[in-house]
Amino acid sequence: MHGNENGLHPDTGVTSTIFVERSLNEIRFWSRIMKEHSLFLRLGFRAEDTQLIHEANQFFRLFERLEQTAHAFTNQSDPDQIRSFNSEVQQAATSIFAFKRKVLGLIITCQLPGANNFPLLVDHISREANYFRKRLIELNQGKLKPLPDAIIKENVFFLRIMADHAKFIGHLLDPSERKLIDIAQNFSNDFDQLLYQARDLEGMVPYSQTVPLLDQFLDQNRVSVTSLRDFKKTARELIEQCKIKSIIHPLLADHVFREADRFLEIIDMFDAHLTSHKTNPRFVED
Ligand SMILES: [Fe+2]
Ligand SMILES: [Fe+2]
Repeated sequence: MHGNENGLHPDTGVTSTIFVERSLNEIRFWSRIMKEHSLFLRLGFRAEDTQLIHEANQFFRLFERLEQTAHAFTNQSDPDQIRSFNSEVQQAATSIFAFKRKVLGLIITCQLPGANNFPLLVDHISREANYFRKRLIELNQGKLKPLPDAIIKENVFFLRIMADHAKFIGHLLDPSERKLIDIAQNFSNDFDQLLYQARDLEGMVPYSQTVPLLDQFLDQNRVSVTSLRDFKKTARELIEQCKIKSIIHPLLADHVFREADRFLEIIDMFDAHLTSHKTNPRFVED
């Protein structure tokens, strides 16, 4: 099945090229993220948790392969091939989601005493897997959330992710790094507040979905995400150069930096489309 002459997919009305481009963009970004989560999980297990270590290693290899495949495709690839690739990746995301929830259950019920991943971190990475899974389903269904709904929902998701990151950094720094812990704590408070604001706005839907309110909402979030992103960048450099004491893996520092950068890109994309044409940039309506 190919796009018709206007470049529209016959089933969904989503432009074929945009569909391919969005799908590959999501998979390239999130497969790498899922691959790294597998590594972080593995590093947090105890030496005797050989079965869990084995499962984590399998997920690492799975997402490494999917990431490579995504890079082998191009924006000119056949949309039908991408459609089935999306389903394959979606199944992988569903499996890693189930694995993360299982691990969370084991930690919370004290069946892995002495393991080194916080429950909130495992919950956090399971939420990211679920987000990835849902994005792929939406893309394949060509189902479009209206722009104002997408703006609020994506911000609620990412603000919570950012608030968690600040808490992880604060807790993985050595207790003697008092100044940096203070900064991380301030970011945590800032993002908790922004998250509450976003939920308040969500509660006032549909009346809150005016261009001026959404525009202001995006601008305010952008300010905080930019400073958190810069703080993560600095932390990453300090960790790489071994200038601070922590149990933060350098790859984790880079990982949370990339996620903040992704959120900023999404904010900018929404902002650009909010005031110009009122289509949803992430899904593209016909
Ligand atoms: Fe992550
Ligand atoms: Fe994250």
